[in-house]
Amino acid sequence: MNAEAKLMAVAQSSADFRRGFLALMEEHSGWVTNTRGEIPKDLTGTLFRNGPGAMNAGAEAYGHWFDGPGMVSAITFQGGKVHFKNRYVQTPKFLADQQGGQITQRGFGTQIKGGILRNLLRPISNPANTGVSWHGDKLCAFYEGGQPYRLNPATLETLGPEYYGTLLNNRKTLSAHGKIHPRTGHQINFGVNLAGVGLSGIRCALDVHDIDAGGCPYSNCRIPLPYFPFIHDFALSEHYALFLVSSIRFSLGGPLLGLSTLSNSMTFDPEASIRGLLVDLRTMKLAREFELPPGLVVHFANAYETHEELVVDFFQSSNSAGFDWLHDVFSVEQVTGAQLTRLRLNLNTGVAHCDPYDDGLLGEFPAWNTDFNGQFTDRCYFVAHNHSSHKGFFDTLVSLNTETGKLNTASVGDSRYTSEALFAPKGNADARNDGYLLAVVYDAARHLSEIQVRDAEDPTIEYGAALLEHHVPFGFHGYFTREVFLP
Ligand SMILES: [Fe+2]
Repeated sequence: MNAEAKLMAVAQSSADFRRGFLALMEEHSGWVTNTRGEIPKDLTGTLFRNGPGAMNAGAEAYGHWFDGPGMVSAITFQGGKVHFKNRYVQTPKFLADQQGGQITQRGFGTQIKGGILRNLLRPISNPANTGVSWHGDKLCAFYEGGQPYRLNPATLETLGPEYYGTLLNNRKTLSAHGKIHPRTGHQINFGVNLAGVGLSGIRCALDVHDIDAGGCPYSNCRIPLPYFPFIHDFALSEHYALFLVSSIRFSLGGPLLGLSTLSNSMTFDPEASIRGLLVDLRTMKLAREFELPPGLVVHFANAYETHEELVVDFFQSSNSAGFDWLHDVFSVEQVTGAQLTRLRLNLNTGVAHCDPYDDGLLGEFPAWNTDFNGQFTDRCYFVAHNHSSHKGFFDTLVSLNTETGKLNTASVGDSRYTSEALFAPKGNADARNDGYLLAVVYDAARHLSEIQVRDAEDPTIEYGAALLEHHVPFGFHGYFTREVFLP
């Protein structure tokens, strides 16, 4: 069955979690009038979320979850009420695909139909669908293969590409996982870029960026790399940015010649160690390199420094099987999680040790109290599969005490599934763990979504939920700010 037939089959099925990948083309804006329980009155701010709003253009299906056009939602909490707004990022890719009713540009895992010549030397287009953040008075939607797009935070109107002055251009990328340093207010971010062609082939580089609190470039450095690396995220501590280059290799010849997608050119090399790159943010220089056993690292949780160690949590898997379902969201049986792992790196000796948490859970989308980015925190929140579930998207919220190992888990409800859940501090928070978990949850039985507000420490406590009159497709990453934005 081809992708279009699978899309049609899922669209016509009922109570199927995969309908959570179907498009929401309508753009909504309004107060949510239907609630369950009570939305806490001290929850004040805006939760922005980004993700592919559609997995099709007309009758054609995108060939990878990473290729759907970015749709940003703004969920504003004020005085116990919730306002929801969603709008597509008006990238050239979105406009061309939607106006033409077909896929007009290449994606990470999508070819333009019509053969090799239509794909030869065509770059991967930018759907601006992966992350969103509010920094330096700029709301930006991010995609790691291109530049961010700036949006009006109140209306979500697309204002255009954001280059941060001369920092970026159409060939220099910025990741979707920038992190804001709480002491300086700077955004630390990075991009993986082609650096030229040498005798041994294509040269690549990791560009590390420090963007000041006003959203202007402050400093940066370039680390040459001998091959095109898989680096999606990084860890930020008080003085360091840590990158782990996974045991993934790309064969760029096929994608360049239009023969295959970049997704299909990825292979996991079980002999290739993970390469650790530690950048000192004070000098913007590579401070240490080290190796870890082979693996795939996608997302990092928080990190902190002790007297002599860097302590970092991240999700890791021992192969790339977790990537397999991403190109086929309309026939996936169960989305794949990874194992939360703690790394301790001795900053004096460079000796590194990794230990998986003994929680028995495969999860993803780590979150924490980002007021304490890079500082000691002892909670990690993530989403996972219930031990007894063998089907579906993530259905469980997890609150883990990373010091004691104590787990609090909660189902998000019958036939309900959730993507990333983010921490928002309570209004009178006097402790760094005192907050809410905010999750946009898909109700497969009704094909509707709801915004659940739960207790971060004990997510079995649901304070309230705002019940939408439509669904919101499963998304990737979001950002919570205490600032209230309303159209
Ligand atoms: Fe990500």
